[in-house]
Amino acid sequence: MLLDNHGRKINYLRLAVTDRCNLRCFYCMPEEGLDWLSRTELMSYEEILQTCTLLVKMGIDKIRITGGEPFVRKDIMQLLTTLSKLDGLNELTLTTNGVLTAPFVPELKKIGVRSVNLSLDTLDANRFFSITRRDEFASVMETLEMLLKHNIEVKINTVVMSGKNTQDIIPLVELTRVLPVSVRFIEEMPFNGDGHTHSGIAWNYVRIFEEMRHSFPAIQKISDPQFSTSYNYQIPGHKGTVGLIAAYSRTFCGSCNRIRITPQGVLKNCLYDDGVLNIKDLLRLSITEKELERTLLAALNTREKDGWQAERKRLENPASESMATIGG
Ligand code: GTP
Ligand code: 5AD
Ligand code: SF4
Repeated sequence: MLLDNHGRKINYLRLAVTDRCNLRCFYCMPEEGLDWLSRTELMSYEEILQTCTLLVKMGIDKIRITGGEPFVRKDIMQLLTTLSKLDGLNELTLTTNGVLTAPFVPELKKIGVRSVNLSLDTLDANRFFSITRRDEFASVMETLEMLLKHNIEVKINTVVMSGKNTQDIIPLVELTRVLPVSVRFIEEMPFNGDGHTHSGIAWNYVRIFEEMRHSFPAIQKISDPQFSTSYNYQIPGHKGTVGLIAAYSRTFCGSCNRIRITPQGVLKNCLYDDGVLNIKDLLRLSITEKELERTLLAALNTREKDGWQAERKRLENPASESMATIGG
């Protein structure tokens, strides 16, 4: 078992395969997009496979592919298929915005993907456009339909933003009446890529919960899976569930089981740190597997206690970074 310097089990890798995206969610990146990474700056599929093979040997048993948007990277199904065959990997999953995903759903099912997290901040096509700056609501809904049709578990990720989509909280909870999905409301984090800081948030998890309870007084707490980022609830009689992710309040750091690798191959011990090791650069220096393992173990031994500590140690202003270059 892989343990960090605080005795926390690490078994979950979040791997961002690209910084590119076909949406422009205003809380993630500016309208003009980012200064995209070039192909050579990205980890190649071969480098990703080499790294994942080692990490799975070391104790990682869950890999989540993120981005940017994973499906804008060329031949992503090829990488997913290869990773799905890794011995020792229990769960291969992904977080997607659903724009290009629908046609790949049968193949995802075939390679053993059991659950997909779908980013969707509103059920209103006009608000979708104002948040994402792209007219793709219909394709995302088609992906949702396809996933359910193929019995893939769906978690909907909704970032709650003051003045933008708080009117969607109740309709999204309503969606769980008829659909067996988990809708998770996420506190907005300051990773919008435009250098704009925000101190504090108007809608934290407590306020979101009060909003739900006001309309659904019978809402009940249900058990949370181990290492869950969300506090989960159900409205009696509803097919699905709802959850709250205190991503800004950072209530779940004590049991943090995850590491991240950015599209450039940088290992991050925390969403809020600056990165602790460039794995891609080491691989390009032809480091041996044994040496890489030793270096990784040393890096995992320098984890901060929580996201607040990691943030305090950051060299740059966190707000200048985009969620798409971190991988969420
Ligand atoms: P599950 O594996 O289904 O539990 O999903 P997840 O919550 O790990 O992943 P997902 O990609 O769906 O992320 C949902 C939200 O939680 C996103 O806004 C992430 O940025 C946020 N999140 C995930 N991991 C962390 C973390 O370690 N710290 C913080 N602060 N937020 C996180
Ligand atoms: N704050 C909170 N969540 C965010 N995501 C992207 N940017 C932010 C942000 N600034 C979410 C997306 C996606 C997940 C990986 O991260 O909605 O579902
Ligand atoms: Fe793309 Fe996700 Fe960022 Fe939206 S939040 S722009 S879908 S990477």
